[in-house]
Amino acid sequence: MADLVQLMKQEVGKAAASRVKSNSILGLGTGSTTAFAIQYIGERLAKGEITNIVGVPTSFGAEVLAKKYGIPLTTLDAVDHIDLAIDGADEVDPQKNLIKGGGAAHTREKVVDSLADFFIVVVDGNKVVEKLGSTFLLPVEVIPMALAPVTRHLEKLGGKPELRMGIKKAGPVVTDQGNLVIDVKFDSIENPAELESTINNIPGVLDNGLFVAVADLILVGEIKDGQATVREF
Ligand code: A5P
Repeated sequence: MADLVQLMKQEVGKAAASRVKSNSILGLGTGSTTAFAIQYIGERLAKGEITNIVGVPTSFGAEVLAKKYGIPLTTLDAVDHIDLAIDGADEVDPQKNLIKGGGAAHTREKVVDSLADFFIVVVDGNKVVEKLGSTFLLPVEVIPMALAPVTRHLEKLGGKPELRMGIKKAGPVVTDQGNLVIDVKFDSIENPAELESTINNIPGVLDNGLFVAVADLILVGEIKDGQATVREF
């Protein structure tokens, strides 16, 4: 099963990378699926299939990968638009709304992905849900001194918040901005747009992982008869 998930991620990452055109400013997403896209973009650049590409990374992790695969990088100070962003997601609903932030990078991801003229989401088939919040907790980035009041506020909204803890690191996960992440279980997210802005209005919250009406195209990796295929919606 784990191998099949890897295969889906690989195929969908390759499919997204194949859509990159020369002379583009790219938003480079975060996570294990986008990692394949970054790898294949780097390989296409090295082969000369595409030229004059520059990337804006959405995290320190994306920056490290882009350097590894030879993709030149820039910052939002130096470019006035992004042509294409490619990024993963933790859940996708039929309206192309997303939950992101499994890698604690959703704040920067939202900045970059929202700026893009075209935003492609790459996911394996397990990420497609009827309703957001069905399988994944909603990540909320919070400045450390506001942890307690924000946690109480999220409880009042009907959520079950828990501070994200590090793996192979003692203590909580610390984001690229030096903040904390609260993962919140909501039994059902009926109105993602409303919940996104309600949570973002809590003082001390930087951003949450709901991405509403940001994605243009979803590429879904699937396994059919043992073969990985890519479906679009
Ligand atoms: C990073 O914070 C996330 O938004 C990722 O894009 C998301 O968690 C998907 O990651 P995977 O591709 O590793 O599942």
